[in-house]
Amino acid sequence: MQELSFPEGFLWGVTTASYQIEGAAKEDGKGESIWDRFAHIPGKIVHNDTGDVACDHYHLYKEDVGLMKELGIKAYRFSISWPRIFPDGRGEPNKSGMAFYKDLVARLLENGIKPTVTLYHWDLPQKLQDRGGWANRDTVGCFEQYARYIFRELGDLVPIWITLNEPWVVAFLGNWEGIHAPGITDFSTALLVAHHLLVAHGKAVRAYRETGLKGEIGITLNMCGTYPASRDNGDDIAAAERFHAFQNRWFADPIAKGKYPEDLLRWYKERVMLPDVAEGDMEVIRAPIDFLGLNNYSGSYIRNDPEKWPLELSSVSTGRDVTDMGWEIAPEALYDLLVLLDREYDFKKIIITENGAAFNDMVNRNGSVEDDNRIDFLYKYLLQVHKAIREGVKVAGYYVWSLLDNFEWAWGYSKRFGLVHVDYKTQRRLIKKSGYWYGDVIRKNGITL
Ligand code: FCB
Repeated sequence: MQELSFPEGFLWGVTTASYQIEGAAKEDGKGESIWDRFAHIPGKIVHNDTGDVACDHYHLYKEDVGLMKELGIKAYRFSISWPRIFPDGRGEPNKSGMAFYKDLVARLLENGIKPTVTLYHWDLPQKLQDRGGWANRDTVGCFEQYARYIFRELGDLVPIWITLNEPWVVAFLGNWEGIHAPGITDFSTALLVAHHLLVAHGKAVRAYRETGLKGEIGITLNMCGTYPASRDNGDDIAAAERFHAFQNRWFADPIAKGKYPEDLLRWYKERVMLPDVAEGDMEVIRAPIDFLGLNNYSGSYIRNDPEKWPLELSSVSTGRDVTDMGWEIAPEALYDLLVLLDREYDFKKIIITENGAAFNDMVNRNGSVEDDNRIDFLYKYLLQVHKAIREGVKVAGYYVWSLLDNFEWAWGYSKRFGLVHVDYKTQRRLIKKSGYWYGDVIRKNGITL
């Protein structure tokens, strides 16, 4: 047996997000979010599930911190619900909402777990959506104020900050495909939303620097290793390049290089309306960050498809095994992506802020969950992360999505991603075999081959 060790101090974490676990949708002065509104529209979510109760983490957080402690988790990435703090999105803060996060952070620290806070994981205050949401530039200013307030309240306790989770998803699933809140289906709106999100990110980074706090701040992007469906077809190769620009570079280039990808800008100019870029925006967006947060679940295999406006491409399956989401298990695509990021960008370091798998887990006759598929998935992905680190890519941490089974957006409770099983009727938590396995990885700071 051989041990593959990770660098000393490697951050072994788990991730969750406010709307997916907290519940307590109307408690202690919390305002409505766009996900509260969207999930209550019949037909939007599988089984018409909502996050009203979710994992009831708002009441059970002490138990959940205890579970992390038991597994030896080093870092916990969670998000703050903006409307819990600013029910109207701006104005007066709601002190009792803040008290919840303060106590959560205190308990994490008491148990030696590093809080990693995401400011925005998709639950925009509905009051701001009523005024146009992220398509309205005013939302940028509201976000900056919200960020400043949180830095003031938690800044000296939280070592790692993430401004936004997956702006690509916010823009394109929420405003182009319309399968996420707020359910808009307009491509040009999605591009405008993306631009405002990037500016909001940059403003929050600048605001953090102004505080003089010594923690680290970055952004989390969902990026995908991208390949042409056929390597001898020039049109597929061009389509894969287009997808890479659409999915990855549209966000990473402005942040790291201060400009949108020229090739895709040209493509868009002939087909859609481009957002107005105000003077100074690109400078704000490229405010230096301490790390890139990377979420990765699969790879993308792309073919040219002139029928599909406006990008003229579609993704194909390659026949690999898939998880319960139908996502192909492609650990080598994460490796390729890490190498590409290292080659093309100069991020100080990368933290893998989400990776994991949904499987149709069941509690067996002995009362345990033997999720070997998930262990296999994590093992294969960690091998690739290790390979990239060995070759010099600066990966400083790895967070599993997710600590708990939870509300998987449009899929409701039908997809289980947790290291811990949740019985939604009783809210009983049960550590799965993968949870114990991950605890072992953490203890050894590595994997056994
Ligand atoms: C990511 C999201 C996270 C979760 C996983 C499965 O895109 O950030 O909230 O839904 O996918």
